[in-house]
Amino acid sequence: MLDIGAQDALAAPPSPHIATPRLVLRELRLDDAPAIAAQAGDKRVAKYLIAVPTPYPVVLARRWIDARLSWWIHGRGVTLAIARREAPDELIGTVSLRRFARDRRAELGYWLGIDAWGKGYATEAADALVGHGFSQLRLSRIYAQVLEGNEASCRVLEKLGMTNEGIRRRHIRKGKKLLDVVMFGMLRHEWFERS
Ligand SMILES: CC(C)(COP(=O)(O)OP(=O)(O)OC[C@H]1O[C@@H](n2cnc3c(N)ncnc32)[C@H](O)[C@@H]1OP(=O)(O)O)[C@@H](O)C(=O)NCCC(=O)NCCS
Repeated sequence: MLDIGAQDALAAPPSPHIATPRLVLRELRLDDAPAIAAQAGDKRVAKYLIAVPTPYPVVLARRWIDARLSWWIHGRGVTLAIARREAPDELIGTVSLRRFARDRRAELGYWLGIDAWGKGYATEAADALVGHGFSQLRLSRIYAQVLEGNEASCRVLEKLGMTNEGIRRRHIRKGKKLLDVVMFGMLRHEWFERS
């Protein structure tokens, strides 16, 4: 059962639906839970995600979807399923902006199932959602926090044109370890100058 109020859900505008050359970014649905549990719960994916267990039970994935739908309804951000245009029902990853409305900033997050790695999909999806964040959500700053050693994600953020803003040492706990985090960020005017 969704833990969001029916009234709130009715009052909220629909989640964005964004098409890119090869992908669709669409609203999450509860029936995406098995795909999320299987793909994000793979240890090669979960390794660089902060709070994803391996294995990842479907019931937890459903709770995560509930929480992310609630983000949108309450203006705290947006999380979208990533799917190929030719198979929009088949989730291959997710991309999100966690919004801090008072500061007009949001944190970008994303992951893809390993079968979808290495095709430029993360860059394509993140690029589209960052564009939406600056143009539709009127954000002033979008940033990302990358756990140490995650070179592929650093590269994605560089390709988006984000600036490496340095390292926060021992900033995030993952399992029993405190890890360094590389900060990447971009300001609104930088995005429009680049576009
Ligand atoms: C990070 C992730 C989303 C990248 O997805 P992707 O679709 O393969 O990314 P893209 O293809 O758009 O770009 C990846 C880039 O990293 C490069 N790359 C991949 N592995 C790399 C490595 N070990 N070292 C350096 N660069 C690497 C690729 O060559 C590519 O760069 P290029 O286009 O200049 O060749 C995916 O690996 C993933 O889901 N990882 C686990 C979860 C995660 O890390 N999420 C992000 C948390 S901040």
